Amino acid sequence: MPYPKPHTGQAPDTPSPTSSTPPAQFAAQPLELAGKHIVLGLTGGIACYKSAELCRLLTKAGARVQVVMTEAACQFITPVTMQALSGRPVFLSQWDSRASDNMAHIQLSREADALVLAPCSADFIARLAQGRADELLSLLCLARPLERVPLLIAPAMNREMWQHPSTVRNLRQVVQDGAFSLGVGCGEQACGETGDGRMLEPPEILHEIIAHFTPKTLAGKRLLITAGPTFEAIDPVRGITNRSSGKMGFAIAQAAQAAGAAVTLISGPVALPTPRGVARIDVQSAQQMLQATLAEAERSDVFIATAAVADWRPAEVAHSKIKKTAGQATPTLEFVENPDILATIAASERARSGLLYCVGFAAESDNLIEHASAKRLRKGIPLLVGNIGPATFGQDDNQLTLFDAHGHTELPRASKTTLARHLMAEIAARLSKD
Ligand code: C5P
Repeated sequence: MPYPKPHTGQAPDTPSPTSSTPPAQFAAQPLELAGKHIVLGLTGGIACYKSAELCRLLTKAGARVQVVMTEAACQFITPVTMQALSGRPVFLSQWDSRASDNMAHIQLSREADALVLAPCSADFIARLAQGRADELLSLLCLARPLERVPLLIAPAMNREMWQHPSTVRNLRQVVQDGAFSLGVGCGEQACGETGDGRMLEPPEILHEIIAHFTPKTLAGKRLLITAGPTFEAIDPVRGITNRSSGKMGFAIAQAAQAAGAAVTLISGPVALPTPRGVARIDVQSAQQMLQATLAEAERSDVFIATAAVADWRPAEVAHSKIKKTAGQATPTLEFVENPDILATIAASERARSGLLYCVGFAAESDNLIEHASAKRLRKGIPLLVGNIGPATFGQDDNQLTLFDAHGHTELPRASKTTLARHLMAEIAARLSKD
């Protein structure tokens, strides 16, 4: 949802101290899956141990989760665990008499916003391909209203089973029949073999579910994002960096991908996993970040500079480790200024002709309104997002203020994922106006 523009009555591009409050729906929808009812189906596979974590993540994201398990799934994890984590009794049989009309398959499939099968075994994929209906889970997959209740499946099996022609054929059929396959992971398997077929990790499945419900407001757009700190070498073992964790930039990359954009993330040294479906380029120094950004900006529609780029770097990098020698003077470092990546891109032909929309971030320690308004003008960008650096570095939540030609808008404190989602909606709304 776009935020209302504050009207300051001032000429465009005049920084303004005027603030507006965000719309009520911002605070009212803090969780990605709030109000969603997910039927989580478990079939027989060792990956069932991951379904417990997935269930927790879904409920933490605001979803109401109803677990349904096949008989085989109960060999791997107990309904007691899944009941405790979902907060509701698990359904196991089509003969379960809890449904008032004794038609659990109808009731469960009508209430759902999505049916998620995780893990989905090779056998269960075969059952879906055939439209079998002799136990509750396949019965309710068949009974779901096709046009309203999506079926998302996270396959899990041994690598030979995954690439067997029967599985390939069955999965193709199931997808043709309207299901969405979330794909599999690659790596070590419970059987000791290595290859494709592992169930995706719970956070990856959660992201896929959230992405499924996210309006594709950035479809067809290419987004370029810089994130994290830079590392400016002093010698082969030492360097200068800062406390940026990269969390805000990575959350933005993930939210942009969920909104349908093709995303490239240029990251300084951080300890974060690559968001699913995002192309990542790792760099160390500001100069490397500039080179990577210049190359990618040529084919991007939006550039979001969240990276905390070092303003200066040591004038010279020692080829060997600088030694501490008794009696010798303490070394003195000389610095040279780093390129301003954002200002460079904002001044490019592509940005000036309106083909590349540039968004900057400002991490200030105080006087946010004054410093950030001035910074937006200095960088020559239409939108700048301000935050208080020391209050957010390394944290999972943040407080953002948006600065544009009309003034500034404060957003309430929220998780970085929530803020990233709203920022994407805001940018999409601005792009559609141009
Ligand atoms: O001037 P300051 O570093 O506070 O500006 C912050 C914004 O500028 C951020 O968007 C940051 O990514 C970008 N920046 C940059 N290159 C620099 C310094 C900052 O792209 N050398």
